[in-house]
Amino acid sequence: MCGIVGYIGKRDVAPLLLEGLQRLEYRGYDSAGVVITSPKATGLKMVKAKGRVRDLEARVPKRFTGTTGIAHTRWATHGAPSDENAHPHLDGENKVAVVHNGIIDNASELRAKLIADGVEFRSETDTEVLTHLIARSTAEKLEDRVREALRHIEGTYGIAVLHADFNDRIVVARNGSPVVLGIGEKEMFVASDVAALVSHTRQVVTLDDGEMATIKADDYRTYTTEGSRTSAEPTTVEWEAESYDMGGHDTYMHKEIFEQADAVDRVLRGRIDDRFSTVHLGGLNLDAHDARKVRRVKILGCGTSYHAGMIGAQMIEELARIPADAEPASEFRYRNAVVDPDTLYVAVSQSGETYDVLAAVQELKRKGARVFGVVNVVGSAIAREADAGVYVHAGPEVCVVSTKCFTNTTVAFGLLALHLGRIRDLSVSDGKRIIAGLRQLPAQIEQMLEREDEIKKLAQEFAEAKSMLFIGRVRGYPVAREASLKLKEVSYIHAEAYPASELKHGPLALIEPALPTVAIVPDDDLLEKNRAALEEIKARSGKILAVAHQEQEKADHTIVVPKNEDELDPILMGIPLQLLAYHTALALGRDIDKPRNLAKSVTVE
Ligand code: G6P
Repeated sequence: MCGIVGYIGKRDVAPLLLEGLQRLEYRGYDSAGVVITSPKATGLKMVKAKGRVRDLEARVPKRFTGTTGIAHTRWATHGAPSDENAHPHLDGENKVAVVHNGIIDNASELRAKLIADGVEFRSETDTEVLTHLIARSTAEKLEDRVREALRHIEGTYGIAVLHADFNDRIVVARNGSPVVLGIGEKEMFVASDVAALVSHTRQVVTLDDGEMATIKADDYRTYTTEGSRTSAEPTTVEWEAESYDMGGHDTYMHKEIFEQADAVDRVLRGRIDDRFSTVHLGGLNLDAHDARKVRRVKILGCGTSYHAGMIGAQMIEELARIPADAEPASEFRYRNAVVDPDTLYVAVSQSGETYDVLAAVQELKRKGARVFGVVNVVGSAIAREADAGVYVHAGPEVCVVSTKCFTNTTVAFGLLALHLGRIRDLSVSDGKRIIAGLRQLPAQIEQMLEREDEIKKLAQEFAEAKSMLFIGRVRGYPVAREASLKLKEVSYIHAEAYPASELKHGPLALIEPALPTVAIVPDDDLLEKNRAALEEIKARSGKILAVAHQEQEKADHTIVVPKNEDELDPILMGIPLQLLAYHTALALGRDIDKPRNLAKSVTVE
């Protein structure tokens, strides 16, 4: 979704900002813009354009120099993607420039009032309202003008403000949309995502909701929207700048699929306790006494994270024997769910920013529930809001569709399930068995990724399909769900996932040679049942691709996956299907890292 980058220092600012915007491209956007100034300048210079950052770059005039500036990539909410609606937004005198992430809920009301007062609007955006409000404030300091304007705003924001009369500073504020300061040597950065900062500095300060900051070239300070100072000790970002490079791969998706063995190694590192056949999860803050009192686990997430949560729920039920289920956070938050004090709520999110998940967490906490986070981005909004949690350590994920973070999240759930299980009734020998299984995962992932050429050939056939069916039973079902989502996200081929057990209750009517079925067929206690489903499809001349632990006679092709422990098998079975989605999309010439209409982090409703 929208991205913000800002810089104040001595360097030529436009190239720096454009580079920062490029690093945020992965979040998804439809237009971009930049505004700059310098201590000696008398005004602001701005360019903005619908389209990609390279379209914006093409419009930047030759003499576009300055040492202070803010820039933005926009994802349309109020008003279609266009040059006018792109950020930054300026006031009538071109003195105030604002870039904004989030949504101003009372924008139309404020707009009507401002128009009645004679203000002329140049865009259809909610953000422009804020620009005019700041411009109309008569307070002496820029900080007070911004503060005054924000008092009128209902909704969410991460903003950066530049003012021609205060060109020694950038003022930023956060409420529901991330803002991170990057602390350099006689230069400061600001961004909505550390991805835009890490090539310049690893020292960051993450603002909290209700916090503002002023950054100058050699100084920064943070304070609340009410004006009281807050402490802002910088922390060091672990992620390397190189993690954001493509590292010899043609796409981030490909790179991230191939990083999975290392990523899984990271999520396991330092957590296994062989002595007690369990794991240590440092951030969990749940002692054995409390863990025994948990009567239910409810997992909430969106998109791929929701699917990882479905796998997690099954593992928790199987290993810890606690009733568990997963639900889309986007549904949960609107259905006035019964909140139960003995339920452990778990919010899952790669970015830690997804608004629907955050809103569900906030609602749960308001009602007194205990909420854990299973999150990838350290210090993100959901990680901070949760009472405790487990980081999944997948490293930065840039491709809009999630692959390595999905896998790591399922492994993190495996750890959580084992931990809860060993506090309850899981035996030492079962604990040992699961630990051995977890340790095997990285090597088995490597083994599977060696099959890329085989999967690539299959993908070429599937690229011709208009629609595909994915089926799985119990452990295989969430795998089918995620594989179907992956295919539709990157290839735009219609795909549907169904429990294999439900085949005869409807989807069988669809089976014909033109509708290929991908069947997840683990070697577990349901193998024979799954084989029967394959027979039913074959009898109706359906084409079948099986993902299984052994060749399936009824399938036209079987991708044979290494066998792990039954409970952990779902972690591995989705991996060849990530490659299938990838190569199908490649054969169709899709924009793999940035599928149409999708964003990496959905920070709005
Ligand atoms: C968006 C992305 C999905 C992602 C979902 C949840 O819809 O396009 O790929 O799974 O958000 O994101 P999260 O960061 O919360 O895991």
